[in-house]
Amino acid sequence: MALYSEKVMDHFLHPRNVGIIEDADAVGEVGNAKCGDIMKMYMKIENDIITDVKFETFGCGSAIASSSMATEMIKGKPVSEALELTNKAVAEALDGLPDYKMHCSVLAQEAIQNALENYRAGKGD
Ligand code: FES
Repeated sequence: MALYSEKVMDHFLHPRNVGIIEDADAVGEVGNAKCGDIMKMYMKIENDIITDVKFETFGCGSAIASSSMATEMIKGKPVSEALELTNKAVAEALDGLPDYKMHCSVLAQEAIQNALENYRAGKGD
């Protein structure tokens, strides 16, 4: 069996939503304690719905694939739903990640949560 699923390879080779949103409503940045890689997430939010999301990463292929999939999963969703997205759900949507690469998917989950926490803090929620 191949180490990485076709979906992982697809999102790694053709990542969705890579880039920066200049006038983002929410920005989050996290580092991965295990490998030192970094993930930054930008979002546009209107009426509590994530209308656009982009990411930049200094991370491995699994982190890129996880972030690409995670951004697709939260686009168009309410903030409350995006806050509940787990790295496990992202990995499942990618048809799995090798065990020793699961920590890479945590980077995507934490960057989303960090952005949304900053957003809520900025609004005084
Ligand atoms: Fe660092 Fe994957 S090895 S995010």
